[in-house]
Amino acid sequence: MAELEHKKELLQIIKTFNAAIISSRLYSFEHPQVKRYIEETFIELDRLLMIRQEISLIVVGNNLVFRNQTIQGNGPNVRQFINILQEKKIDHISFLANLPKSGLYALIQDISSSKTTELKSTEHIKLGKVEVRVEDNPFPQDQLSFEEYSEKMDQLLSLRDTTLQEIKEIYNSIKQSKKRIDVRGIENMVSTFIKGFAHGINPISMLASLKSADEYTFTHVINVCILTMSQAESLGFSGEKLFQIGVASVMHDAGKLFIPEEILNKPGTLTLEERAIIETHTTKGARYILGLEDIPQVAVLGALEHHIRYDGTGYPAMQKQWSPNIVSQMIAIADVFDAMRSRRSYKEPKSKEFIIKILQEDKGTAFNPFLVDNFIKLIKG
Ligand SMILES: [Fe+2]
Ligand SMILES: [Fe+2]
Repeated sequence: MAELEHKKELLQIIKTFNAAIISSRLYSFEHPQVKRYIEETFIELDRLLMIRQEISLIVVGNNLVFRNQTIQGNGPNVRQFINILQEKKIDHISFLANLPKSGLYALIQDISSSKTTELKSTEHIKLGKVEVRVEDNPFPQDQLSFEEYSEKMDQLLSLRDTTLQEIKEIYNSIKQSKKRIDVRGIENMVSTFIKGFAHGINPISMLASLKSADEYTFTHVINVCILTMSQAESLGFSGEKLFQIGVASVMHDAGKLFIPEEILNKPGTLTLEERAIIETHTTKGARYILGLEDIPQVAVLGALEHHIRYDGTGYPAMQKQWSPNIVSQMIAIADVFDAMRSRRSYKEPKSKEFIIKILQEDKGTAFNPFLVDNFIKLIKG
């Protein structure tokens, strides 16, 4: 089959359209980032509409169809676009020539709002509703057999163990020399991990379990990396951004290497003074990462902000109205989930159901509500 015409332009429209919806749900519709994404979507859409007059996209099962052809090489952006449409029960969307910019703004605002249940067609945007679910998918997804699934799982677990070993080496070399490490080592590790990462597999099945108390930091870091990457991927982050998020999650607790082990691994309750020392792992980690050459900026933020709550409280204390970076917010959820599910000498592990309940209760105060909903969807899988 010939390459789908205008595929590149379409994928670009889908990507910025998704980004507009996601950032509008995360921040607000007035946020400058939302405006930027809508403007970018509009420019691309308008350009393509001048050539085609009409752009119709239809959801058929798990596929997106354009001019009777599936958009092949789907990737997370197309999957996410389908999810966004299906959440609003739309299975067909057509954009017509001379689409006014205000029409696109209104559509994105309606789709991102949790209040809008009924979306209406307009003169330049036609929407088709899902009336009957497609039972027989004419484009079936590859179903893995039990053997194929087990083989894939084995590969993933061995990749996870190799990565765990590498994280251990990197963290140990930071600890021993307390001086700068070669960032390339972390980068190679993260990109290898991304390539083999578990697309579409419940991240919980990949988590490592703790073998001994002094291994806690490494086991925790790989688990936070798995849980953060899986959130990021489901939100449509890819390429360089996904890579940077991987680096940030691996480095988030680097500051713990500057905290005396007897405090870190102390069984039982910590004194106020010991607690205050542990809390400095955020600023110490950020300062250390800042001194590394060529490390993504977001890794500094991840280390600094992962214990700052959604409402700005937590530690380290920040100016009023401080809002942590979205990556730090994803790390914060992954961090709490792994800490609660791990067995330590002084506490029993908590069940998945219990942790979900806590995350739900702390939505809007400790955690970003949209990210919590997305995370729960992922781990329920
Ligand atoms: Fe931490
Ligand atoms: Fe942590």
